[in-house]
Amino acid sequence: MRVPTRSTTAFVPRTPRLTEVRTRPDPRPTGRVGAVPAVRGTPLRVKSAVKYSGRSDSLRVAATATDAPLGVFKLEYDISKDDATKSADWNEPVIVAVSGAAGQISNHLLFKIASGEVYGQDQPVALRLLGSENSREALEGVAMELEDSLFPLLREVSIGIDPMDVFVDADWALLIGAKPRGPGMERADLLEMNGAIFVGQGKALNEVAKPTCKVCVVGNPCNTNALICMENAPNLDRKNFHALTRLDENRAKCQLALKAGVFYETVTNVTIWGNHSTTQVPDFVNAQIGGEKAMEVIDDSEWLEADFTPAIQTRGGLLIKKWGRSSAASTAVSIADAIKSLVTPTPEGDWFSSAVCTDGNPYGIEEGIVFSMPCRSTGDGSYEIVEGLEINDWLRERIKKSEDELTKEAECVSHLTGKLGGACELMGAEADTMLPGEV
Ligand code: LMR
Repeated sequence: MRVPTRSTTAFVPRTPRLTEVRTRPDPRPTGRVGAVPAVRGTPLRVKSAVKYSGRSDSLRVAATATDAPLGVFKLEYDISKDDATKSADWNEPVIVAVSGAAGQISNHLLFKIASGEVYGQDQPVALRLLGSENSREALEGVAMELEDSLFPLLREVSIGIDPMDVFVDADWALLIGAKPRGPGMERADLLEMNGAIFVGQGKALNEVAKPTCKVCVVGNPCNTNALICMENAPNLDRKNFHALTRLDENRAKCQLALKAGVFYETVTNVTIWGNHSTTQVPDFVNAQIGGEKAMEVIDDSEWLEADFTPAIQTRGGLLIKKWGRSSAASTAVSIADAIKSLVTPTPEGDWFSSAVCTDGNPYGIEEGIVFSMPCRSTGDGSYEIVEGLEINDWLRERIKKSEDELTKEAECVSHLTGKLGGACELMGAEADTMLPGEV
C-alpha cells in the first residue's frame, strides 16, 4: 500500500502572494489510510489537465497532476500507482459541492461530511467549496482546518468563487450560501436579494454538474430558491431538487418528545407540509410516538394546535432573536440528516420530510412548486412521495395557506429571473459575503 504525497486543493489566488506555493509532504504514516478498509491504498484520482478557468474576476487555476504546483493547496498524488492499489470494494469519491462554504452552517457541516458520518464510513469524499471574492482567505482557512483534521475519507478539498468551476462533475450540491435574514425579517423578504444567486447557480449546475446531481437548497427562502435553481437547470431531473425542511421536522420531533416525556427516537412519521416559513404545517395528525398516534399519546389538541404548531413555525425566528443570527449547528445537523435519509433506506413504515417538486404529487398540491411532503427512499439518492396520509380539515386549511404562499412566490420567479438574470453573477459573488458568522 502506498500513500501519496499529500496536500490538498487547487486554488490559485490572483495576487502575487498566490504564486507562493505551499506544498507539504504527507505527515501521516503509510498505514493510516488503511484504517478504513474500503479506501485502502486508494489515493485521490486527480484528473490530469483539469482546468479551473474562472470567469472575469474569478480564480484562474490550471492544475495538472504533473505540473509544478500552482495553488496554495495542491494535490500531488501518484495516479499511476493508484489502480494497482485499489481494493475491490473501493468507491469512487462522491463529489460534494458546498456553497457558502466559509459560513457558520458549513463550518459544522463540512466536518461531518469529511468524517464519513453523512455518506458512510466506506465512502470517500471530494469537497468542492464555493465562496465569494471576499471570503477567499476564509475559504483557505476552512480548507486548512479540513486538512489538519486528517480525515481518512477526505480525498480532495478544492476551493473557488465561481460555481462554473466549483460545480464541475458534482454529485451533490449543497446550496447554503445566501444572505440570511436578520431580526424582524421574514424569509420571503430575502427573495429578491437571494433569488439571483440561485439563477446563476442553477445555470452552472445545468452546464457542469453531473445530470444526476442531487441539489439541497438551504439558503432562504429555500423552497423558492430551489424552484429558481430547478427552473434554471433543465438538464437535471426535477426530482433531484430539495429544499431543507428537515430542520423543522427535527424541531417538531423534539417538541413532541418533550411534551410526551419520551426520548426523541420514539417519535416517527413526522411530516412538515409546505414552505420553510411561518406557514409550514408540522403534522401532528399522522405523527407517531412509540408506534401510537401522537394525538392519542399527548391527548391535548389545544396544545398541539395553539402551542406546538406556532412554536415550530416560528422557531427559526426565535433563534435569530436569541442568537442575533440564524441557526447554524442544528441546520448543519439537519442537512446531514436530510442527505442520510436519501442515501440510506428509510425504515419500514416511516418517512422523512423534504421540500420537493410537486409535479404529479398525490395530494393535489399545485404543480410546479417546491413543497415539503412525506418522502421515502430506497437509499439510492432518490425518493418517492408517501401517499395516503390522513389530511383532516385542520391540516387541509393550513396546507392550503402554505401552498398559496409558495404559488405567489413562484409567480414572482419568472419576473425575478428576467429582471435579475443579468446581474446574477455579481449578486452571487457578493451575497454570500454576508453569511452568518462570515464578516
Ligand atoms: C431557521 O429555520 O432557523 C433558518 O431557516 C433561519 C431562518 O431564517 O429562520
